[in-house]
Amino acid sequence: MTPPSTLRRRRHGARGAAAVAVLTLAVTAAVAVPAQAAGSTLKDAAADRGRYFGVAIAANKLSDSTYSTIANREFNSVTAENEMKLDATEPSQNQFNFTNGDRIVDWALANGKTVRGHTLAWHSQQPGWMQNMSGTALRAAMLNHVTQVATHYRGKIHSWDVVNEAFADGSSGARRDSNLQRTGDDWIEAAFRAARAADPGAKLCYNDYNTDNWNWEKTQAVYSMVRDFKARGVPIDCVGLQSHFNSGSPYPSNYRTTLSSFAALGVDVQITELDIEGSGQTQAETYAKVVADCLAVTRCTGITVWGLRDSDSWRSSGTPLLFDSQGNKKAAYNAVLDTLNGGVTPTPTQNPTPTQNPTPTQNPTPTQNPTPTQNPTPTQNPNPGGACSATLTVSSSWPGGYQGNVTVTAGSSGISGWRVTLPGGVSTNNVWNGQVSGSVVTNAPYNGSLGSGQSTSFGFIGQGNAPSGGTLTCS
Ligand code: G3I
Repeated sequence: MTPPSTLRRRRHGARGAAAVAVLTLAVTAAVAVPAQAAGSTLKDAAADRGRYFGVAIAANKLSDSTYSTIANREFNSVTAENEMKLDATEPSQNQFNFTNGDRIVDWALANGKTVRGHTLAWHSQQPGWMQNMSGTALRAAMLNHVTQVATHYRGKIHSWDVVNEAFADGSSGARRDSNLQRTGDDWIEAAFRAARAADPGAKLCYNDYNTDNWNWEKTQAVYSMVRDFKARGVPIDCVGLQSHFNSGSPYPSNYRTTLSSFAALGVDVQITELDIEGSGQTQAETYAKVVADCLAVTRCTGITVWGLRDSDSWRSSGTPLLFDSQGNKKAAYNAVLDTLNGGVTPTPTQNPTPTQNPTPTQNPTPTQNPTPTQNPTPTQNPNPGGACSATLTVSSSWPGGYQGNVTVTAGSSGISGWRVTLPGGVSTNNVWNGQVSGSVVTNAPYNGSLGSGQSTSFGFIGQGNAPSGGTLTCS
């Protein structure tokens, strides 16, 4: 079997040679770089942007050839929709059943895909014996479950949803009441420590819904927990945003701020259960926005849709997925593919997706609550005739620091490199997708070439008070 990372390297290898040739041409002849060849499947297009594209799978549908053909062709990551949950894997206490989970993992690995593990500890879908437990007995049973399941799958899981949905909805910002929560506030970190010990190679995620809108209390509560975990060394590597969108819980315009703010804590961000109710162009445009937002945040490392065809969805009446019930590609599919290929972007942001990962190396770990911020929607290019223009937005701030994001847009001629001067008073040595020297940020090796009107972005962690946003000098 060829591991997926090798496959990706091969694709990158082929395109990498082309990219070097193109870069050389751009440097010597100072011409704009032509668009890359487009990936023709979601997994290839995503891989070209350094991301995975995943799908939730049901084991009993793998024998449906329409289903398994599409899943294999389009996706390079899978999540078991139900088969690795507590009721499925430990139906009687300390008697584990991995039959259906193994079917999915074996199918995934045999077909060169990575696997997201879902989920080790959750208040819901607990087996009956666990529902009736409490206190220290429940805590021990939960930790045993985490240990046994993570050990069984050790070495086969890319990322585990270690804890799922532990915060309450609404404005309380509190933990959700549950039998697990009643064992003590530290149950979440205990679960993460047990998972790390059992499978040190897996990324460990906290996963939740209604955490997409940066201004919501629940989002802020999860953010505070992750920041606290990072500050205290609790082993957490990623945050999963489920992102089930519909009219009651719509895609928020500040979604990108949410993604980048979590990422700035020093964790990966994964969109773990994406579905968007609706149809036609409206649905397609929302899908495109979600994908563009992920591409704009370097540490947004992948997207998983929660089911294959509309008929497979837990919300099938809302037709929220990328394939119709016959397995045909919907407008939403085309919008996702185009956005991954850099063609149809609802906001003028193009993420470079480096092969070398320019993630921030320093964790800002602010000690106070963050200030929920305004949506950093990039403004239109104010200087379309010049070499380039740049706009600064501040996506989050805290006492003593902030995260800045700068969108660089080429003028009508296209450019082969850029140089942005940060505002006076800005102090940073932590820049990603760019190279900083004093107050000047220049392009990284991979994002200097922009065609006419094309954009890229870089981010930085600043010390002190956040500057006001606006236009910066770009040359
Ligand atoms: O397989 C049985 C079937 O034999 C039985 O006849 C039928 C009768 O109700 O139930 C079937 O099981 C159902 C199972 O889905 C498989 O379809 C369960 O009742 C049903 O509760 C279960 O729903 C799942 C739900 O989690 C449970 O909480 C959905 O498929 C699954 O998509 C959903 O996934 C969750 C994520 O884990 C966490 N985030 C939210 C997301 C959506 O609710």
